[in-house]
Amino acid sequence: MPAKNRHTVTVDKIITGGHGLAKLADGMLIMIPFVLPGEKVVVAIEKRKKSFAEATLLEVLTPSPQRVKPACPSFGSCGGCHLQHGDYPSQLAIKESILRDLLSGNQEWSAEHLESIFQPALASPAPFHYRQRIRLQVDDSGRIGFFERRSHAVVDIETCPLAAAPLNDVLGRFRAIAAFQKLLPHTEALELLLSPLTDQVEVIVRLRRKPRAADQQAATSLAETIERVQAVWLAGEGFVMSGPFIANEANEVALKHLAFALPKNLAGRELVFRFEAGGFCQVNQQQNERLIGQLLEWAEVGQEDAVLDLFCGMGNFSLPLALKSRKVVGTDLQRSSIRGAKNNAQDNHLQNCLFLRADALEAIREFKKTTEQFDLILLDPPRHGCREILPLLGDLGSKKIVYISCDPATLIRDLKDLHGFGFHLRKIQAVDMFPQTCHIECIALLSKV
Ligand SMILES: C[S@@+](CC[C@H](N)C(=O)[O-])C[C@H]1O[C@@H](n2cnc3c(N)ncnc32)[C@H](O)[C@@H]1O
Repeated sequence: MPAKNRHTVTVDKIITGGHGLAKLADGMLIMIPFVLPGEKVVVAIEKRKKSFAEATLLEVLTPSPQRVKPACPSFGSCGGCHLQHGDYPSQLAIKESILRDLLSGNQEWSAEHLESIFQPALASPAPFHYRQRIRLQVDDSGRIGFFERRSHAVVDIETCPLAAAPLNDVLGRFRAIAAFQKLLPHTEALELLLSPLTDQVEVIVRLRRKPRAADQQAATSLAETIERVQAVWLAGEGFVMSGPFIANEANEVALKHLAFALPKNLAGRELVFRFEAGGFCQVNQQQNERLIGQLLEWAEVGQEDAVLDLFCGMGNFSLPLALKSRKVVGTDLQRSSIRGAKNNAQDNHLQNCLFLRADALEAIREFKKTTEQFDLILLDPPRHGCREILPLLGDLGSKKIVYISCDPATLIRDLKDLHGFGFHLRKIQAVDMFPQTCHIECIALLSKV
């Protein structure tokens, strides 16, 4: 490598995406993967862009005291994890500082205000083996794993340290099964879904083409061969997901769902949730419990209050809120989520919940035509946020909003808009739903001035 392409730099901080930020002698900013703040490293410049350059890490000259040996042999090549080289406290500190950086410098919030509202990151109870669902890519050569960093090449993996143990158990046994080998050439992805209540697993096999009778037989055979697999589904682009293919037809109804329970101490009563394969569920169940705890604490809803949960899924937040409030109205675009939410309310004997399948914007427009008013609005939109609905929220009577987000950039954009509409930021916290990765979940509390 030409010497002029090699540089020794000191990492200033970690930014969005988990990249280290450093400066070359000529002032050019560079982004380096797999480094920690304060480390002196040797890097090679890969790509120069207008305002920054991308570099690869060649050597760590002065390692951070928080540097650790990554747990996974594929760390670095597999694109799934970004922070395994740092101990868990360093990962939390990185996520906190990314969030602080994104918030600061905005005219909406002074440095003093941010200091007073910023909460330390909420640690995940388990930094490894926390994922209750994983999606693995499959390539033409039968490699099963995650995409390589910045590529669509598949890194073959035997086991994933982020996946819950039952998922690794199933993954480890799949390849040796003849029925799976029959499906493999037509498979583009595999989803393994844990049912935390039972430790059973459901598998969605995403095919490149419409399933045939032989695929269905192979799916049933897979469920028969691995006791832990309660159902296999066949899905893909352009056709309806088919299944469940199960070992015992008589158990079809009982086996069709995944399930988890929230403990009594969270909302005053144990709640059991069932949800369908393919629908949304939080990936880290133990951390989901902490997030719900934080939501209930910040929301402070009482028995007189009405709550609107605009992206309610299968009622993950709506049901705990229903135990604390007068009523909850939940809306979601996905039919199966609303079906799940209604069933969950019924199974948990909650009569103060109403669930409607609706686009959030449409739902708000409908509420505006009525006298319906809410004391709390909960927002938990997909990654891209929910900018389009923000101008209308003020008309629903609410003085308080809790916003839960898996993308700090769209969250902060939306918080700025909400500030303009009179909802001021009162508390904000990173909730580490995805340890070892650069992804940051956040919860924010806003109230009207
Ligand atoms: C991040 S998930 C949150 C689900 C739920 N709060 C939970 O914790 O399980 C986002 C949800 O928004 C729903 N969604 C996406 N776009 C929507 C829209 N335009 N209107 C209403 N819901 C939408 C999805 O179906 C999904 O259930």
